[in-house]
Amino acid sequence: MSGPRLGTGAAPGKLVLFGEHAVVYGRPAVAAGLGCGLGATVEANQGGATLSIPRWGKSGLVVRLAEDRGIEAVARAFRIALQVVGLDAESPVHVTLAGRLPLGVGLGSSAAFAVSVLRGLADYQGVELSIGELMDGAQAVEQVFHGNPSGMDHTVVTHGGCLRFQRDQSPIFRPVECAEPVPVVIASTPRQGTTREAVDGVRARYEAQPGPFERLFDTIAEITEAGIEALAVGDFGALGRLFDLNHGCLNACGVSSVKNERMVNLARDAGALGAKLTGAGCGGAVVAITPDGGQAVERALLEAGFAAFQTVVGA
Ligand code: PMV
Repeated sequence: MSGPRLGTGAAPGKLVLFGEHAVVYGRPAVAAGLGCGLGATVEANQGGATLSIPRWGKSGLVVRLAEDRGIEAVARAFRIALQVVGLDAESPVHVTLAGRLPLGVGLGSSAAFAVSVLRGLADYQGVELSIGELMDGAQAVEQVFHGNPSGMDHTVVTHGGCLRFQRDQSPIFRPVECAEPVPVVIASTPRQGTTREAVDGVRARYEAQPGPFERLFDTIAEITEAGIEALAVGDFGALGRLFDLNHGCLNACGVSSVKNERMVNLARDAGALGAKLTGAGCGGAVVAITPDGGQAVERALLEAGFAAFQTVVGA
C-alpha cells in the first residue's frame, strides 16, 4: 500500500569566493555551491496552499495564502513558485522548508528557497521541469526578493559546482575546475542594510575617486584569476593568501564592518589559512579556508557569539 503523497526538493546555498563588488564594474567573480542548503517537503493540506519555515526568526514563519497571511515578499514568491507548476493559492498543498543554511546573510538563501520549493512542488505534482524552466522559475521567484538579480545566485544554486561570472562576456558563466572540494568554516552576523545599499555605497565612493577604485577592481580581477588557478590545482595555501588579499580590497571598498573584521581575525588566529567576507558585506557572512578540519576555527567563532559551521564549497 502506498503512503500519503509527498514531494521533496533540495538546493544548496552559494558563496562568492572571489570578485564581489568588482563584478558590478565588469570584472570577473567566482561563486560556488555550498555543501549545505535548504530542503522542501510538500504534502497534502486541507484549505489552500501554506508554507512554513520553522527556522525563520525566533518563532518560525507560516504563510497561508488563502488568508493572505505571512510576510508579503515570501507570500508573493510562494505564489509564483506555485504558478510555475500549475498550482495556485487555493491548491491543497503544504510546503515545509528546512535546512541549516543561514537566511539573509548573502549565502544564496533566496535562490535556494526558489529552487528547493520549485523542485519539491514539481516532484509532488509529477511535473518534469527542464533546467531552463527551473532557472526561469527561480529567476522569477528571486526577483521578488532582489529586484533585478545578476543571475549568479540561482545559476550556481541550480547547477552546483563552481562558476566564473563576468557580465559583459559571452557566455556570462563558465565552469571553474575544482581539484577537490574546499573545506571551509562560514560565520555570519546580521547584515546592516541590503545588497543594494552596499552596492550603492561602493558606487558613491567610486564616483568620488574613480582612478584608485579602477585600480582596486583590477587588483581584485587579478586575485580572482589567480584564485581560479589555485582552485584548479587544489592549492589551499594559495587560496588562503588570495582570500586575505581579496578581503583587504573589500575593506578598501568600504564594505567590511567591525564585526566582519572580528570574524576574519578570529578565524585567522584560530588557524585558518585565510579568510574574507563574502557577498555584499556590511555584516553578513565571512568564509575561512580550513583544510585541517576547522573545529578550532568554528569553536573560536561560536565562543565569540557568531553563528558558524563547517562545510565544503565547490563539490
Ligand atoms: O547579495 P550577495 O551578498 O549574495 O552578494 C552580492 C554580490 C555583489 O557583487 C555585491 C552584488 C552583485 O550584484 O554582484
